[in-house]
Amino acid sequence: MTSLESRPRLNHASLSAPPEELLGYAPTPAELRPHKLYEVQFWRERSGTYLDGTTFGYQTPPLTKEQLRGYPSTTYHALVGAVAGGLAGERIAFECSAALCAFAPDDNARMFLATQVIDEARHVEVFTHRLKSLGHDDTEGAMRRYVNPRMFAFHAHMRARVVDTRDFVGGVIGQNLALEGLALGFFEFNAALLADVDPGTAEILKTVLLDERRHVGFGLMRLRMLLENQPERRAYVEDTVGELSDEMMAIFEENADNMACLGVDPSEPMKKVRAYHAMHLDRLGMGA
Ligand SMILES: [Fe+2]
Ligand SMILES: [Fe+2]
Repeated sequence: MTSLESRPRLNHASLSAPPEELLGYAPTPAELRPHKLYEVQFWRERSGTYLDGTTFGYQTPPLTKEQLRGYPSTTYHALVGAVAGGLAGERIAFECSAALCAFAPDDNARMFLATQVIDEARHVEVFTHRLKSLGHDDTEGAMRRYVNPRMFAFHAHMRARVVDTRDFVGGVIGQNLALEGLALGFFEFNAALLADVDPGTAEILKTVLLDERRHVGFGLMRLRMLLENQPERRAYVEDTVGELSDEMMAIFEENADNMACLGVDPSEPMKKVRAYHAMHLDRLGMGA
């Protein structure tokens, strides 16, 4: 048996290398200041206000596949499509937030991202659970059938950027601004649309939405600090915001076409998606 002493020693020099040497990114004093978003205590109190007493994100049980038989089949497929699309996005955020947490440039960002990882794990769990209660035990099969292939391409793009390249700023832009920032409008619309028909699913979406607002808040705060303190990075941030937001917007536009095919008017959700995006760009000083 190998004793502890005889095991090869870890290379402490490389492990303790300052993150900026590895990342080309040094946190500024603004980023090192305390903020409530960096507190696990704040996260527990805030999320407790809407999660306490819920099971898999709801108090009112969502409609089962059998209960939905009384509705047109397009209602069922639109619901499964919304949940499967949500799950695809949550899987991206789950993987990326965990990777970003692992190589975050400072403890503030690491602390927030640790709370985001748990939020995203919860989102993956509640959407998977909902998909099963809609009769889709084969989650992967449902994903292949209902999710826009561009979403999987966006996942691969984000994995390359975050996991392989360790692009922290690009990861925050792709995850907390493009993916989550645009998703706010979609979750909000679907929660309102389902409030009367399927209040349980609306509740799931609302609890996810409240977590997502915190994630977008972190992204905006960190990007604003970066732009204020390192103006030389503005061109990179603007290019990346443009590239990744265009990718996500194309996915939402295709999804809107699919909604129209299922008889749901997509003009309202798309208006919300665009309005959120414009507001976020404005808060970064990148508005039109
Ligand atoms: Fe999420
Ligand atoms: Fe999120």
